[in-house]
Amino acid sequence: MSERGSAPGTPIIEVRGLIKRYGTLTAVDGVDLTVYSGEVFGILGPNGAGKTTTLEMIEGLRQPDAGTITVAGYDTRSQTEDVRRAIGVQLQTTALFDYLSAAELIKLFADLYGVDSSPARIDHLLGMVGLREKRDAAANQLSGGQQQRLSIALGLVNDPIVVFLDEPTTGLDPAARRELWQTVRDVRNQGSTVVLTTHYMEEAEILCDRIAVMDHGRVIALDTPVGLIESIDVEATISARMRNGTLADRELREIPGTQDVSLNGDQLELRSDNPQLTLIGLLEAARTHSIELTELRSNQASLEDVFLTLTGRSFEPLSDATDLPDETEKRRFWQRRKAA
Ligand SMILES: Nc1ncnc2c1ncn2[C@@H]1O[C@H](COP(=O)(O)OP(=O)(O)O)[C@@H](O)[C@H]1O
Ligand SMILES: [Mg+2]
Repeated sequence: MSERGSAPGTPIIEVRGLIKRYGTLTAVDGVDLTVYSGEVFGILGPNGAGKTTTLEMIEGLRQPDAGTITVAGYDTRSQTEDVRRAIGVQLQTTALFDYLSAAELIKLFADLYGVDSSPARIDHLLGMVGLREKRDAAANQLSGGQQQRLSIALGLVNDPIVVFLDEPTTGLDPAARRELWQTVRDVRNQGSTVVLTTHYMEEAEILCDRIAVMDHGRVIALDTPVGLIESIDVEATISARMRNGTLADRELREIPGTQDVSLNGDQLELRSDNPQLTLIGLLEAARTHSIELTELRSNQASLEDVFLTLTGRSFEPLSDATDLPDETEKRRFWQRRKAA
């Protein structure tokens, strides 16, 4: 399955009633999910949502307090070794290996797993992650993005059925992030299933076939990106700044298509299920009151609107300002900052 939205394959991971407590904190609070073979499955949520804990329980690295997990038909509690053989986990390239080249590291891992470590196979794995020309470069001379991709290659050495990536693009610049997205697609197109976590909504929307949205240890929505966006009654957000007066909240709510209004001084934002009608209505209302609209913008609904609708909160922590994927998100971030 290489196309988004095509019929799902067979279930490859089944998680039911998963719970993990740390003292009084329930970090994972009754998670159910099914991952199908051949998909890129994303677990999306803010920091602390329980993504890593969920992932590590599926990998068999942490013990759940309750619930069942099967991976490729193996129970993660009683058949841990079979699970380990079936999965690939992205490893952090550690200082220990810094003096080894990319090719030497892959050979070392292949030998550890007892799988084919021939130069041809090493080249194939390096090619998968776009590092063939770096085969003889020392790991510590690679960029952050290249090191991440090398660590994915190491996770692929045993030809895993499922590959797990925990926040693979955190800390990468936009160009490196895009290269990593391509690597993930290549891994999926070669037949592996990919499960990744992210706190970047745009990344989940662009990269994942299906997404489980997590918040406070629970899966609050699970669908394709399109399905998630269609599940909320909002198609678009229209925003503008008003000059020479302001329109009243009540008046804005009467504009056709308007689902929600937020007013902040001279700044207005309308959420609409019919952006064209809403835009026309807004322009008419402004003209009636001789109000000038500046910075008029319309944005299609995104996963951000899904999260906002489901939780009443917006998503990214402010401290992430330097770590956003691209200009669009930066702009949204500053809009939110200004509105807050
Ligand atoms: N080993 C641990 N001991 C105590 N609390 C933990 C531990 N690991 C995670 N937590 C807490 O569990 C919650 C979920 O953490 P985590 O799964 O790392 O979330 P995420 O990966 O979504 O950021 C957080 O509140 C975190 O502080
Ligand atoms: Mg995490």
